[in-house]
Formats: sequence, C-alpha cells, structure tokens
Amino acid sequence: MTILLTGSSRGIGAAIATALGARGATVMGHGTASGIPADFADPEAPRALWAEALDRAGGAIDVLVNNAGVFEANPLAADDWTAAWERTMRINLTAAAELCRLAVLHWQARGSGGRIVNIASRAAYRGDSPAHWHYAAAKAGMVAMTKTIARGYARENILAFAVCPGFTMTGMAEDYVASRGGDALLADIPLGRVAMPDEVAKAACFLALDAPPSMTGAVLDVNGASYVR
Ligand SMILES: NC(=O)c1ccc[n+]([C@@H]2O[C@H](COP(=O)([O-])OP(=O)(O)OC[C@H]3O[C@@H](n4cnc5c(N)ncnc54)[C@H](OP(=O)(O)O)[C@@H]3O)[C@@H](O)[C@H]2O)c1
Repeated sequence: MTILLTGSSRGIGAAIATALGARGATVMGHGTASGIPADFADPEAPRALWAEALDRAGGAIDVLVNNAGVFEANPLAADDWTAAWERTMRINLTAAAELCRLAVLHWQARGSGGRIVNIASRAAYRGDSPAHWHYAAAKAGMVAMTKTIARGYARENILAFAVCPGFTMTGMAEDYVASRGGDALLADIPLGRVAMPDEVAKAACFLALDAPPSMTGAVLDVNGASYVR
C-alpha cells in the first residue's frame, strides 16, 4: 500500500505518517524538513509533487492524504487581505484539489480504485475567528469537494473521506490556544482538552486503510464534542 501524505514533516501529518508506517504502509512524505519538497503557494507545485511521488513509488499510488495546510491570521483591515485570502485558498484548497484530480485520473487509468483522505477542520462547519474567513471557507470547500468526489467515483471504487479536527496540540494550536486565552477556550471543549495529533492520526489511518467502502463521503469529527452536528 503506497500512500502520498502531504505535510508529513510535523504536527498532525507526522502523527499520520507514524500511524500509517506502523501498519506497514509505504508513506511518500512531503515537506520542507523531510519527504518531497513542494511549496503549495506555487501553482505548479502540486503537479510536480504528484509526478515525483509517482516516480519514486514506481508508478502506483494507492491512497492520497491531503494534510498540509496553513492557519494564518488575516485581519479585515489588512491592506493585503485579498492576497492573504488567495494564498490560504491556494495552499489549503486548490493544491488539495489538484492532487485529488491527479489521483482520480491515475486510478481511472489504472482501473484500480483508490482512497482520498482530506484533513479539513471543525471550522468547515462551525466557522472560525474574524481573522480566518479564508481558512473556514477553504476547509468547507474541502469537505464539499470530498463529498463530490465520493459521489462521482464510488462506482469505480474511488473512495473519499474527510476528517474535521478541532483544536489539536501541534505548534499551530498551542499558539492559537494561548492567543485565545487558554483556559477559557478549553472550557468550550466538553472533553476538557484539545485533541492530540495521534487521535487525528487514528481517524485518518482508519479511513485510509480500514473504512468500509459504504462509508465513502463520510466526514469524521475529532473535536472533544466542542462542535456536534
Ligand atoms: N492543529 C489544529 O488545531 C488543527 C485543527 C483543525 C485542522 N487542522 C488541519 O490539520 C492539518 C495539519 O495541521 P497541523 O496543525 O499539523 O499543522 P502544522 O504543524 O503547522 O504543519 C503544517 C504542515 O503543512 C505543511 N505546509 C505549510 N505550508 C505549506 C506550503 N506553503 N506548501 C506545502 N506545505 C505546507 C508544513 O510543511 P513544512 O514543514 O514543509 O512547512 C507542515 O508539514 C492542516 O490542514 C490544518 O488546517 C489543524
């Protein structure tokens, strides 16, 4: 089982890489510190990453996990608001869409079927802070795209799933929790704590390797019941 996992260098992606590796999967990682480098701010990068991963994998990728993402504040009054909106859309949504497209075409050409796991966010359903319109919109787009792929290609055994984590204890979340008042934010999570990366990884690993085909299109929440739907 060969898996292309974006953003595998740290945080949730590193935990997913560990979980998949423990199950015997071959993980083609991506990131600055390890794996295949590709900056998704560059429109050409997803295609180059896919081609390089396919080459290193010997011509067959079975699962795509879109995990790479940014969470950058974009205050309404910022002069470069539109540029920041477009940057987040490109990295968090367009790059994932391009990789999904290339994966679907690859599996159709092989006649093999395949699986996509998109790491979205609780923000897709709940929204986010006033400085993160772009982030919530990108993640909502990712969920809608996942459902569209699931419905469009299930007959070809091409399955698509999403995971929506709430706050998760990576570097990114630590900064965010601190900037939002720490304990007050935690009080909004019935479980009493943020999620750990290995909890999100367990959900992603299940979807990548074990979820029954009839689950295609499913979106799994990992948020300590901070948003139930
Ligand atoms: N942590 C949370 O609270 C939380 C909650 C909900 C959803 N999520 C989602 O979960 C995913 C992982 O988040 P995380 O918290 O683990 O993040 P993280 O620790 O900040 O890691 C982000 C990953 O994305 C990659 N990345 C960042 N900018 C990139 C770019 N321009 N081009 C290509 N790759 C880039 C990074 O690669 P480099 O190492 O090369 O920079 C890194 O591997 C994201 O999609 C995030 O939106 C996180």
